[in-house]
Amino acid sequence: MAEKKKLRIGLVGTGLMGRTHANGYNRIHNFFPDLEFEPELVAVCSRNEEKVKAFAEQWNFASYETDWRKLIARDDIDAIDVCTPNDSHAEISIAAAEAGKMVLCEKPLSRTIEEGQKMVDAAEKAGVKTTVWYNYRRIPAVTLAKNIIDSGKLGKIFHYRGNFLQDWTINADLPQGGEGLWRMDANAAGSGVTGDLLAHCIDSAMWLNGGIKDVSAVTETFVKERMHQLTGKVEPVKIDDACLFHCHFENGSLGLFEATRYARGHKALKTFEINGENASIRWDLHDLNRLEFFDHADDSKLRGWRSIHVTDGDHPYIDKWWIPGCGIGWEHSFVHQVADFLKSLEDDSDCSPTFKEALQTQKVCEAIIESATERKWVDTGVDGQFV
Ligand SMILES: NC(=O)c1ccc[n+]([C@@H]2O[C@H](COP(=O)([O-])OP(=O)(O)OC[C@H]3O[C@@H](n4cnc5c(N)ncnc54)[C@H](O)[C@@H]3O)[C@@H](O)[C@H]2O)c1
Repeated sequence: MAEKKKLRIGLVGTGLMGRTHANGYNRIHNFFPDLEFEPELVAVCSRNEEKVKAFAEQWNFASYETDWRKLIARDDIDAIDVCTPNDSHAEISIAAAEAGKMVLCEKPLSRTIEEGQKMVDAAEKAGVKTTVWYNYRRIPAVTLAKNIIDSGKLGKIFHYRGNFLQDWTINADLPQGGEGLWRMDANAAGSGVTGDLLAHCIDSAMWLNGGIKDVSAVTETFVKERMHQLTGKVEPVKIDDACLFHCHFENGSLGLFEATRYARGHKALKTFEINGENASIRWDLHDLNRLEFFDHADDSKLRGWRSIHVTDGDHPYIDKWWIPGCGIGWEHSFVHQVADFLKSLEDDSDCSPTFKEALQTQKVCEAIIESATERKWVDTGVDGQFV
């Protein structure tokens, strides 16, 4: 077998995403043997030395750092993978781009459009490759939905519905801020469910159904004050606990979205449903290997929702895994993103969404918050193609 070219990785952040990405890099050698490039896990970085050392050993990184600036300064690293909370995405990504490194950054791209624009500018100025981990695009059933929509099977699209429902912050005694709970702190997260959950729904929606033109939103913060873990004081909660918005897409369809962390009984129910003139399609994360499809052209006596088990060899990505009928999981979407990034090095293409593409999602998020705050419709300013 020909010697593989290496993509030398430096990963920052060893929490949930640090683990999913490390798992992604580790699976490539076994499951994507045809790629020209292979990841080399050169170093991982986190601030606690004991923990980062253990992480490096567990996930096969050759070395570790406790300061991301040192990681970026190393000349044995080609790409920086940013798996830290949202408040450090811009600083780390911009420094990495300025040092000539490729950047793979977790979502949301940034806390604000302003930060995101600086990230786009830095990457473009340095001419480095970027990607943002909107991983749901790479769940085979979701990729299949994209292929079906792009083939024109749905005809003119009228409706797009997207939800992301969770229930983990209902307890009023849950603190905010600091390790593990930075999502509850607006300074660290930028926003609440809008940047955390709706950002995923918006990325999926614009990829599947094109740009969102304008939005009208309502947000709510159900628990107004919580103890802040970093200050030890009870402080106002500034994130949105729940957000509902409706919108117009550029293709003339209407969108309806809901995200909350207060939907008792739902752990991570990400869903979408799209209704077209000829057919409809729907998907949910709790049954992620299935895509439901309704075709009005079917014989009327047999017409109904089909439940497609997306596990056949001709379904997206599936030929790389097991045998028909044996499903794969959420974590595989990260393996697929690594594989697509490596593939993009072979043919010098983009691994979507790039920073520039992910900035479009940021524009919608910011328009949502503005709409909810000022109680009015807001134009998103979204432009560009969603490929
Ligand atoms: N794509 C997805 O489905 C998905 C899912 C969850 C989280 N995310 C995103 O991933 C990012 C990380 O989320 P998470 O759930 O892994 O958070 P986490 O709290 O589990 O982990 C964050 C990690 O970053 C480290 N860290 C924080 N500041 C640092 C610094 N200055 N230098 C080095 N390390 C630092 C922490 O010690 C921790 O190891 C967030 O932007 C989040 O929005 C994406």
